[in-house]
Amino acid sequence: MSAQSTGSGRVKRRGIGDFVKGGLPIVGLTAYTAPIARLLDEHVDFMLVGDSLGMVVYGFDSTLPVTVDMMIAHGGAVMRSSSQAMVVVDLPFGAYQESAHQAFRNAARIMAETGCAAVKLEGGAEMAETVQFLTRRGVPVMGHVGLMPQSVNTAGGFRVQGRGREQAERVMADAVAIAEAGAFSIVIEGTLEPVARAITERVPVPTIGIGASPACDGQILVIDDLLGIFTEFTPRFVKRYAELAPLIAAAAEAYAADVRARRFPGNEHCFGAG
Ligand code: KIV
Repeated sequence: MSAQSTGSGRVKRRGIGDFVKGGLPIVGLTAYTAPIARLLDEHVDFMLVGDSLGMVVYGFDSTLPVTVDMMIAHGGAVMRSSSQAMVVVDLPFGAYQESAHQAFRNAARIMAETGCAAVKLEGGAEMAETVQFLTRRGVPVMGHVGLMPQSVNTAGGFRVQGRGREQAERVMADAVAIAEAGAFSIVIEGTLEPVARAITERVPVPTIGIGASPACDGQILVIDDLLGIFTEFTPRFVKRYAELAPLIAAAAEAYAADVRARRFPGNEHCFGAG
């Protein structure tokens, strides 16, 4: 996946046509806000406005409370602050499981109000009909199989998938069903490496791994994990590329000390001071 010049020197925003198997690995990161989208835009192939924002930005203990309005607010911010990376917005829990018509209504609203290129939804064979309904009506869909955080209650927690033959076959069947239904790409989350590898070899569309396999056609991480903003817990599949948490805390501590000691603001920060 490579950036294309429009001829006027500007780089054309990537789209689903750039999602191909067999090229350089596809690079994805989540983005939820304008300043982060601005910083990531030229470095990644796509940004996912993931419903993980419920946990990362809003402090919920699952993604279930996230609403379509929240996704539109954050999706719009990311779109307005980027021009090169493709932007995919998650359909949140309760916005598509009821029927294909409900899924279309919410997907169309998200696409119209944010300008994003595609939506992502979680689910396997049971969602294939919905994926087909959407893709045949102009909504590009990224699938999401394996560990599906919106199913945390039925799955009994955030558990790695693909253990044992039955589970491995189910995740494979889910990915195949979603690909056959027309998804342009499939996220494989929290799935045993050999299973994710086998899915990648089997399906004709690019797979995007998170806690899956280096063999996937692309990779994605949650931006706050990569930046080291969370200190409580680092999942095994995360590689931290920065440690921002102590820097942010130190900056807040230094500011508080300056204010309390009347070192801030100085005259140089004031208007008309002598
Ligand atoms: O919501 C999200 O951020 C995701 C990624 C973990 C793939 O679905």
